[in-house]
Amino acid sequence: MSSRISCLQQGPLHILENHAVRRGPVPDFLRQPALEGVQAVHAGMPGHAPTPLVSLPGLSRALGLGGICIKDESSRFGLGAFKGLGSCYAVFRAVCQRLGLDPARTTPADLRRPCHARQLEGTVFVTATDGNHGRGVAWAAAMLGCAAEVYMPAGSAEVRARAIREAGRASVTITDLSYDDTVRLAARMARERGGLLVQDTSWPGYEQIPAWIVQGYTTLAVEAVRQMAAQTGRPPSHVFLQAGVGAMAGGVLGCLLDHYAHRPPQFVIVEPASVACIHDSLLWDDGLPHAVAQPGPTIMAGLNCGEPCPITWPLLRDFARFFMACPDYVAAEGMRALARPLGTDRAIIAGESGAAPLGALLHLMCCPELEAARHRMGLDEQALVLLVNTEGNTDPALYAQIVEQGAFPSPCSGLPPASGRGNDAPAVQAGEQEQA
Ligand SMILES: Cc1ncc(COP(=O)(O)O)c(C=O)c1O
Repeated sequence: MSSRISCLQQGPLHILENHAVRRGPVPDFLRQPALEGVQAVHAGMPGHAPTPLVSLPGLSRALGLGGICIKDESSRFGLGAFKGLGSCYAVFRAVCQRLGLDPARTTPADLRRPCHARQLEGTVFVTATDGNHGRGVAWAAAMLGCAAEVYMPAGSAEVRARAIREAGRASVTITDLSYDDTVRLAARMARERGGLLVQDTSWPGYEQIPAWIVQGYTTLAVEAVRQMAAQTGRPPSHVFLQAGVGAMAGGVLGCLLDHYAHRPPQFVIVEPASVACIHDSLLWDDGLPHAVAQPGPTIMAGLNCGEPCPITWPLLRDFARFFMACPDYVAAEGMRALARPLGTDRAIIAGESGAAPLGALLHLMCCPELEAARHRMGLDEQALVLLVNTEGNTDPALYAQIVEQGAFPSPCSGLPPASGRGNDAPAVQAGEQEQA
């Protein structure tokens, strides 16, 4: 290992530390002037409302932290996950470009006018997804009266495919391919059939739409900055962000770093150990993104991506300090802790990918073998930790297995009783997710 990267923790939960963290500046496309139009587009979408920032004082006291705030994206646009933020902004920008409209003088409602609807007739939006992004694309396409063609990797849950069909006029195919090969298939289908590809990762020659998607995600960060100021009066000291391809983590990190330039928080990137493409790319130590050599299965469907997004990879490489590769039980414990909170904390319904950062924090604070890592990371009674719950209960059968039946238990004996071991808070029924 180089002087730039060191291993902070060996074992099933693996942690890397970046010793060459930069403090800024972030690329212009993630700075406030470039993002003003993003918030205006979201404000013009039907069903728009800021999602809550939930404080968990009971859990933070029990863990010995100064505070935990979790931005709960499970209610975003009624889609069960944050993903609609990226897809609707990218669809808006791509349609403005196709129709020759100035995005600064156009609203989402303008695009629904009959004259534009006629111009868009026959347009099909194409994408690959493990669930949440495809649902967002189908929903944004339907808003414009357009169809979507959505491809999913092998092993995708039928319930996630159904949610995409129900979000709009979408045809959904579950392939026998990995996520990354499904992305290549969707790109080929769009090319061959003249569809408009709206993909949430980039590759050489396909950067504009993914950059709009990344910009779209920043609305959650802008809201969190305002809510942190109003609710705690201080910026976070640590931000834990989960990564699949790293587009969301890169966008949110960039936007937060721009806002908190005077006092940048420590960023911690959380991935499934079996498919930790950001963590594994750092190990190469050549500055480049790499595909995971031997991707394995994970319950964290939204994070099951073997190749980093090239446009956000440099942000994570340069500005994040810690990188955690986590076994599935980490996400499962996070789900249980959020569903059955301590004291008067509010219950949060979080899916596997949504709960992974809270699970990572729980293990850092409670497992004796992670004590040195916890000290090194500065996770103490002064720390104010910001997390994002990126999804609700998007797979109710798996949610019930994990939260009700205790599937994927952690070997760590020091976790608080809330983590699936029962307390006095009401149990959560599977399927209650989006109404909760
Ligand atoms: C719920 C959820 N969280 C996090 C992510 C990770 O986003 P990214 O692939 O941009 O890293 C995804 C991606 O689909 C997701 O569905």
